[in-house]
Amino acid sequence: MNEAHRQFLASPEWARMLETDLLPWITRIGDIGDDVLEVGPGPGLTTDVLRTLAALVTAVEIDEDMASALAERLKGSNVTVINADATGVRLPSDRFSAAASFSMLHHVPTPDKQDEVFAEVCRLLRPGGVFIASDSRDLDPIRAFHADDVFVPLDPLTLPDRLGRAGFADVDVEVGGYELRFHARKPASR
Ligand SMILES: C[S@@+](CC[C@H](N)C(=O)[O-])C[C@H]1O[C@@H](n2cnc3c(N)ncnc32)[C@H](O)[C@@H]1O
Repeated sequence: MNEAHRQFLASPEWARMLETDLLPWITRIGDIGDDVLEVGPGPGLTTDVLRTLAALVTAVEIDEDMASALAERLKGSNVTVINADATGVRLPSDRFSAAASFSMLHHVPTPDKQDEVFAEVCRLLRPGGVFIASDSRDLDPIRAFHADDVFVPLDPLTLPDRLGRAGFADVDVEVGGYELRFHARKPASR
């Protein structure tokens, strides 16, 4: 992430937007259960939202410095931070009641790698577990904000098939003003 991006994601303004916009959307989807996986927490303001909703949160962050800063900030809380790539997390299958990814998937450098994240999240979810995510739309101002950074936005039209190939069902995609949001479920019996 570039510096402007990093600062924004750690700002009180972003925390307020998450509280007023993201949190109500998550609660509308339903109960996320007791043991939640987050991929790509960054500075962790989205982790702060999730940890009010679930007994346990495991946050998987690829950037070593961000992972250690978040682990330090949330030491002694209900959050465990793992420094790993979300395409291959060394945790057992079928564990989590829900998984979440916020503004992270466009930082994964290729669609194939994004598909690996989807498949890994599906593996880690319990049967019946829900995957909830938001991500940037492909808009000029958002591209400009990602100068010198990875920006591989998701296409909302191909997303249901991609999630289906990764093992998900009941895919629901909403396209908003600046981001898209989706949720999908790992089938109860596979
Ligand atoms: C734009 S930040 C979003 C942070 C936070 N979720 C939020 O919305 O405020 C994306 C984060 O995902 C992390 N990330 C990117 N690719 C990843 C991967 N393959 N596995 C785990 N984390 C990843 C980045 O290092 C970065 O911290």
